[in-house]
Amino acid sequence: MKNCVRIALPKGRLYDSGTALLARAGIEIAPADGSRKLVFPDRDGRFEFIPLKPVDIPVYVESGTIDAGIVGSDILREVEADVYEPVDLGIGKCRLVLAAASGLALPAAGSLRVATKYPRTTERFFRGKQLHVHIVKLDGSVEIAPLLGLADAIVDLVETGRTLRENGMRVIEDVASVSAKLIVNRTAMKTKSVDVRHLITQLDTVVYENPGQQD
Ligand code: PRP
Repeated sequence: MKNCVRIALPKGRLYDSGTALLARAGIEIAPADGSRKLVFPDRDGRFEFIPLKPVDIPVYVESGTIDAGIVGSDILREVEADVYEPVDLGIGKCRLVLAAASGLALPAAGSLRVATKYPRTTERFFRGKQLHVHIVKLDGSVEIAPLLGLADAIVDLVETGRTLRENGMRVIEDVASVSAKLIVNRTAMKTKSVDVRHLITQLDTVVYENPGQQD
């Protein structure tokens, strides 16, 4: 299996839609055999799948230890890895937004504290407005930060808007639209060209033949 194409799958919110999309492209992950193996083959033995924390996927793919991966554009924007992004998979669509507690005025930019899992994206967003803010880096449940007084606002993902609503927050401004991408290592694009191009074509076909069915 040494020469098969290794593909990183994102654990969490994109896992089910990502594997369903691969299945529609004719690539089915062999069912787990109850072991604690971290690498799974596909049914035909052409690919190997490695479920990883999303933020680690661009790192592995840029290094070439994994050939390709599925990852959200929110992560790609944050990590800025040097990888190909040949297919927008049309799954995991949501928005990255600046949000704050409803009914509360925000402090002036210089003293604004913004909690986020995306410090670089947030810094660039405010720099683009020529504003300096204090960024508080968190790893999850970011909406709780303003409620507990750690921050005045957040930059985070919004999908249905339910989490913001139920925590008394409102969107102030969109930062970016988000969807999942196929990413490919630049060397693998050449050394595993046949299989990688086949993968790209299969996914492209599913995405373009079934627009809107990916969500
Ligand atoms: C994401 C995001 C919000 C929530 C938004 O969290 O950080 O908390 O989903 O979804 P909604 O608009 O549909 O309510 P995720 O589930 O990825 O977990 P995390 O907070 O641990 O990052």
